[in-house]
Amino acid sequence: MPFSFDALRRRPDLEGPDLGAVDAADRLILDESDAARADLPQGALVVIGDTHGALTLASAAAGARGIRVHQDELLGERALAANAADTGLDGTYASLPLDANLVSGARVVLLRLPRSLRALADIAGLIALHADPEVVVVAGGRLKHMTLAMNDVLRDRFDRVDVSHARQKSRVLFARGPHDGAAPTPEAAEVDGIHVRAFGGAFAGASIDIGTRLLLAHLPEPRAAEAIDLACGTGVVASALAVRHPSLRVLACDQSAVAVASARATAAANGVADRVRVQRDDVLSKHADDSASFIALNPPFHAGAALADGLAPRMFADAARVLRPGGELWTVWNSALQYRPALERIVGPTRQIARDRKFTVTASTAR
Ligand SMILES: C[S@@+](CC[C@H](N)C(=O)[O-])C[C@H]1O[C@@H](n2cnc3c(N)ncnc32)[C@H](O)[C@@H]1O
Repeated sequence: MPFSFDALRRRPDLEGPDLGAVDAADRLILDESDAARADLPQGALVVIGDTHGALTLASAAAGARGIRVHQDELLGERALAANAADTGLDGTYASLPLDANLVSGARVVLLRLPRSLRALADIAGLIALHADPEVVVVAGGRLKHMTLAMNDVLRDRFDRVDVSHARQKSRVLFARGPHDGAAPTPEAAEVDGIHVRAFGGAFAGASIDIGTRLLLAHLPEPRAAEAIDLACGTGVVASALAVRHPSLRVLACDQSAVAVASARATAAANGVADRVRVQRDDVLSKHADDSASFIALNPPFHAGAALADGLAPRMFADAARVLRPGGELWTVWNSALQYRPALERIVGPTRQIARDRKFTVTASTAR
């Protein structure tokens, strides 16, 4: 069966007419790495940041085997797995965490540039530390998400950074000559008495977002043995709850690998790692219906309208499924998003707890 980009889909990530599983940056990375990928030995190709599998599966269709892949988002990892099964290319790659095993001895690394410079610095440092000295990193993105500072971050770890011509509003950077490799370490800060740890790319970095602060200022003591911090990011809500209430156990979950690593580091830094369990999950997919009594949530938002409409209601729906009748969902949201009717409809009766110039905190009681 010949490989076609048309076969690729985004599911279980949001799908929609304006949301594709492959874009011009993927195609440029593949075209610009064509020669470098030819005749590579098995296991020499690494793919980082593939959104829904286009980079990995087009490389596999061209003959690459033993591809090592890291995607920060679990939804991307699941989309890649589903697309691999659909195209008969499963077994050609392995999904791995962002650590030495991912990049050791790599000869070619295809990288979708992350938006965060700190995330890029963490990835570049890891590649420089463990990859083959002859490695070439082919890093691409959409021009609107690229800055010259990305070239500088790569130059900190590579002797040579070359830039491709732009094509269809996308560009590729080639990095060669790794030096001064370093393993990622989390950024650290203490904010309002909470120790925050953030690996590159985690929401709000080593600070506490102002919406999160408003939520933290109003969260009550959960009337439950265990609380859930849904979409936990660096895990500041989970750790704050555990510090405030010494017999409470907290489950923190997020689909992002850097969020999960950060939340674990944050819990350890606050001395509550024994009561904060951190899980990488898409919403609460690992949880049974009617199994929780208290969920705190600062939902993700996104510049794209289609995504903004889809992400938060999907989280409300899963929280509603997992809450027992009478259980509570405490949510903070940008007031302009007007989530209250959606919370009422999807979860249950919703009361406003606080509101400042920008954010609203509500508590919704599950039916
Ligand atoms: C606005 S941030 C909130 C982070 C943290 N609770 C805070 O207040 O600092 C939203 C988080 O949602 C996570 N997220 C996005 N989609 C998700 C999904 N499908 N399942 C779980 N977490 C998700 C993102 O990775 C991000 O960390």
